[in-house]
Amino acid sequence: MARDNFGSRFGALVAMAGSAVGLGNLWRFPYLVGENGGAAFIIIYIALCFLICLPIFISEFVVGRRSQKNAFAAFRDLSGGSNWKWLGMVTIIVPMVVLSYYSVIGGWSVDYLMKSVTLSFTGSVDNARMFGSLVTSTWAPLVAHTVFLLLTAVIVAYGIKGGIERFSKVMMPLLFVIVLAIAVYALTLPGAQKGVDYLFNPDFSKIDGKSVASALGQAFFSLSLGFGTILTYASYVSKKDNIMFQSAATAVSDLMFALIAGLAIMPAVFAFGLSPESGPGLVFETLPHVFGQMPAGGFIAILFFVALLVAAVTSSISMMEVAVSYLVEEKKISRKKACGVIFFVCWVVGALCSLSFGPLSDIKIGDGNLFDFFDHLSSNVLMTLGSLLTVLFVGWRLKKTDVYDEFTNGGTLSRNVRLFDVLWFLIRYVCPIAIAIIFVYGLIN
Ligand code: PHE
Repeated sequence: MARDNFGSRFGALVAMAGSAVGLGNLWRFPYLVGENGGAAFIIIYIALCFLICLPIFISEFVVGRRSQKNAFAAFRDLSGGSNWKWLGMVTIIVPMVVLSYYSVIGGWSVDYLMKSVTLSFTGSVDNARMFGSLVTSTWAPLVAHTVFLLLTAVIVAYGIKGGIERFSKVMMPLLFVIVLAIAVYALTLPGAQKGVDYLFNPDFSKIDGKSVASALGQAFFSLSLGFGTILTYASYVSKKDNIMFQSAATAVSDLMFALIAGLAIMPAVFAFGLSPESGPGLVFETLPHVFGQMPAGGFIAILFFVALLVAAVTSSISMMEVAVSYLVEEKKISRKKACGVIFFVCWVVGALCSLSFGPLSDIKIGDGNLFDFFDHLSSNVLMTLGSLLTVLFVGWRLKKTDVYDEFTNGGTLSRNVRLFDVLWFLIRYVCPIAIAIIFVYGLIN
């Protein structure tokens, strides 16, 4: 049977942008900016995105599109069956781990969407308590986690063109309009300027090695790097498409979404005299408080949590696809069955993560619960290692002529031909060294 593919360039682009734009942009980026001192962090983040992450993105793209196979087979076949295939295996397992806890947060957005529809955020509610009682209870988050994961599995079961592409094509433009509309509205609130200053006036005294490490970690997470997701999506991209264009367009949209999300959130937070430094609770505790007070807040809350949910689903489907494509192509089981299997595994692991805030909170690994452990392990360690190994693979194991051929579509894209030497230098030297330094620094501190 012919392999399913993206039906159009636009389809491939919105699917990739959908993978990149997610909770990382709407939930994680704003609170990291809040914790790390605003604009200075953003500048470092942008530099890392384009200097380090874009070449990694392109590397994954090259591996995926060159092989037109799932992540395991891609590394296996392009390396002539060597041990590099285990890197492929890792890039299949990691997204499953991430999907498990990602769908717990996705579940919280489902629950908060319900809450916003039933008008639960009024000025008099204690939002921190409300969030606390959701995450520590047993059933509500489990039900929401199930709904979220099921939605993911159903979309993936419909395949690349009929499921992932079709969903992303409708949802990504919608997401953009919603987030932009909220940002415009937030900017009209009295006192919004303070939030804008916070986002755009750099204070470099707050930057240290640790914030650089977390900016890099965030950039990896936000661009879905080191997980096999970009690789897998790239394997469905037409040989005629331009890798440079698709990669840069994804990186730019991802960055734009993060900045617009910042503009939707910070001005509103400052306008109501709240602090942006509430960490992971920013979106679920601080924002509902803002919604409870702002004019038309009930409506804005619904829009916001729709956006959060859509962003999360267009990312979770990309994580699920990595393992599903492996099962379908290597283990020869049907797509529907593969989705069922991955649903089941991620449901169990995710349920444990969800319960680790409540009934299982006594189980500690290091000084965090299971959820923290998985989050830390995957986004700070595995993702970085995955990215590092991928650039080493492309820069030092693949033949330069093959990478050139894939990047320039056989020498026919003149701009890419001109860019190739710079890219090759970044992939071979700059990326591995920079990742290694920042990674080791992050581990020590
Ligand atoms: N990039 C997604 C986000 O910003 C998360 C993600 C990570 C998606 C890894 C796929 C793979 O939320």
